[in-house]
Amino acid sequence: MEHIVIEGKSGTSQIVVGENLANIRAYIPAQNVFIITDKNVGSIYSQQFPPFPVFQVEAGEQSKEFPVIAGIWQWLLDNGADRGSFILAIGGGVVCDIAGFVASTFMRGIPFGFVATSLLAQVDASVGGKNGINLHGFKNIVGTFTQPRFVICDTSMLSSLPEEEYRNGMAEIIKHALIKNAQKINYLIANRHKLLQRDSEAINHVVSLSVKIKASVVQADEHEKGERRLLNFGHTWGHALEAILKIPHGQAVAAGMVFAARLSVNLGYLAENDFVTIKEIIAGYGLPVEIDADKALIFDALLKDKKRENQIIHYVLLERAGKAFVKEIEVAQLKKMVL
Ligand code: GLY
Repeated sequence: MEHIVIEGKSGTSQIVVGENLANIRAYIPAQNVFIITDKNVGSIYSQQFPPFPVFQVEAGEQSKEFPVIAGIWQWLLDNGADRGSFILAIGGGVVCDIAGFVASTFMRGIPFGFVATSLLAQVDASVGGKNGINLHGFKNIVGTFTQPRFVICDTSMLSSLPEEEYRNGMAEIIKHALIKNAQKINYLIANRHKLLQRDSEAINHVVSLSVKIKASVVQADEHEKGERRLLNFGHTWGHALEAILKIPHGQAVAAGMVFAARLSVNLGYLAENDFVTIKEIIAGYGLPVEIDADKALIFDALLKDKKRENQIIHYVLLERAGKAFVKEIEVAQLKKMVL
């Protein structure tokens, strides 16, 4: 079991990789707990939930919209929740985002913790304290920075994850390696078969490494004014693809990473052979390296993204596989390069 800590402005967040849902009582208060999950996770694991009221959202990104949030606030009030309550999310990225946002805003903020059930949530969505909801499909436009008290990454739960979802989680693991850790890239190349077969030792290793990379970046820049922007590698083009095509986040990020790597080559920062390696790694994990879509539409969607400030986009590019940096690119210049 691995313990990783983020000392955030809103409190300390303890991330435990390899802990089990069965031990959750050790992490939560004895009473006044409210559970948020989704119908998929509930249908498999509700027998193992501690005995507290449960709100189940529909599985999927469409639940990250305001009417669902308002429904949960109302449910909390109807069930006697107060400022001493605790919210426990058990689910993937969507559930963690919803629960973190609800908890950070209900009665001006009550404490919360996550049991992350999907690979994507374990290595990314549950860690870092950003809790966002969508506005008419545009990703994470409304949100908060509040650290969860704890994140339990129960890697044994990954065995019930559909194959596509598992591979989508690999996109964020690859991202962490590409921005910060060349050794992890070698591990991902050498252990591809083990990881695709969900070998538990290999999974625990890469989940721990990913969480450590993310935690160190968040610790250095919790509110995303500098270094934390590196975590957006692949997400500028990726979020736009996701908004337009309604494709899974991991697939959009995979294609977004290849797009950003190509841009890095075109601007003279990244060597062509590194680009080829990056493409091979992403394809090797069954993720798309290119997604066909109307570039003008994607560009319009990209302008609605949070990564734009006035006419500047903070684009995350690569200097080599394992080292990313942020380049400020003017919208007009980017348009010329990509259309
Ligand atoms: N909750 C995801 C993040 O903070 O990046």
